[in-house]
Amino acid sequence: MIIREIKKGVYGIIMNDWSRRLFDELIPLPDGTTYNAYFIKDEKNVLIDTSDPVKADKFLSALKSLGIEKIDYVVSNHSEQDHSGSIPMVLEQYPGSKVMASEKGADFLKKLLLVPETRCVKVENEEIVSIGGRKLKFFHMPWVHWPETIVTYDIEDKMLFPCDLFGSHLAASEFYSSCNEKIHESAKRYYAEIMMPFRSNIKKHLEVLKKLDIEIIAPSHGPVYDKPGFIMEAYEDWTSDRVKNEVVLPYVSMHGSVAKMVDFFADSLIKKGIAVKPYNLTGADIGELAIALVDAATMVLGTPTVLSGPHPSAVYAAYLFKILRPKTRFVSIIGSFGWGGSMVKSITEMMPSRNIEILEPVVVNGYPLESDFNKLENLAETIAEKHKQLNLLK
Ligand code: FEO
Repeated sequence: MIIREIKKGVYGIIMNDWSRRLFDELIPLPDGTTYNAYFIKDEKNVLIDTSDPVKADKFLSALKSLGIEKIDYVVSNHSEQDHSGSIPMVLEQYPGSKVMASEKGADFLKKLLLVPETRCVKVENEEIVSIGGRKLKFFHMPWVHWPETIVTYDIEDKMLFPCDLFGSHLAASEFYSSCNEKIHESAKRYYAEIMMPFRSNIKKHLEVLKKLDIEIIAPSHGPVYDKPGFIMEAYEDWTSDRVKNEVVLPYVSMHGSVAKMVDFFADSLIKKGIAVKPYNLTGADIGELAIALVDAATMVLGTPTVLSGPHPSAVYAAYLFKILRPKTRFVSIIGSFGWGGSMVKSITEMMPSRNIEILEPVVVNGYPLESDFNKLENLAETIAEKHKQLNLLK
């Protein structure tokens, strides 16, 4: 746990969860995570978000250690339990407190955590609430990844409390982000796994936030940014339509045919000046695959045929691709079969219908022959041409 006074009367309370390895029983957390809350001491005392219930006791002790005798408002920026889960305990410990949330947020708190409606105050988009020497302004920012989300802006302190937005799953000893490559990767992993499907909404929200005078970004996961440009610029880049001269190559191979194809194909792409990122799905960190999908121009999925369809690991990768909705422009399939099947059809049908061009797949019967390697070479050449058309490659 780290408690730090950020500005006079504004405290950050970071609960490190060093050993958590999965979020939502789905998302890998190689570096753990944190649950961050913020306390503002003013005429009206305000707590912004709380903690995952697994840390509730420690969180309540942290509030006590700050000498907090009353809380007037608990701002619930986001109702997901890793931030709101300790609200019922806070309301019990501070009986005079009320929760501020969007209308939908209050409804979620009622349904998910049984918070009584009488303890909730609903805030409108761009509503300003004076808490004494400070004013807080609330912005509704739905579909950062849930529909009820708000962000809170402390006008006097020029601090933004965006909850999940700009967050990173990174337990650390440092309170402030050192804005290095590690933080960039953690934040990109977080964006890829949680925010990427909502890229167009986030892009619009960024336009609103860019108009604010922000000195500190205090998210609810990972370190605090005292150089907000670092994370704002990264989000500008990730949410833009720009793609990179890269091919993401998730694959699985049962008896070596697909592995042989992937090896040859990767070399062909590299020779043509295209960066390639192969992921063997039998052991790959799905988070790394998601990071690679944030800005690669092309994805090629490699799979053998199992019981007439794609390998289940390839189906999982295709499904993730569909729901994460990366800005990938081109997709193809390489793979093998023994005696038939409809592997290509099954994978193609899983691809999203939006602006993605499917390039002619290469499928071999058994072990790849010279003629099959020629087809892979042609696919690499087609990808190079497509990348040239986007000015990604000379
Ligand atoms: Fe960190 Fe959407 O919860």
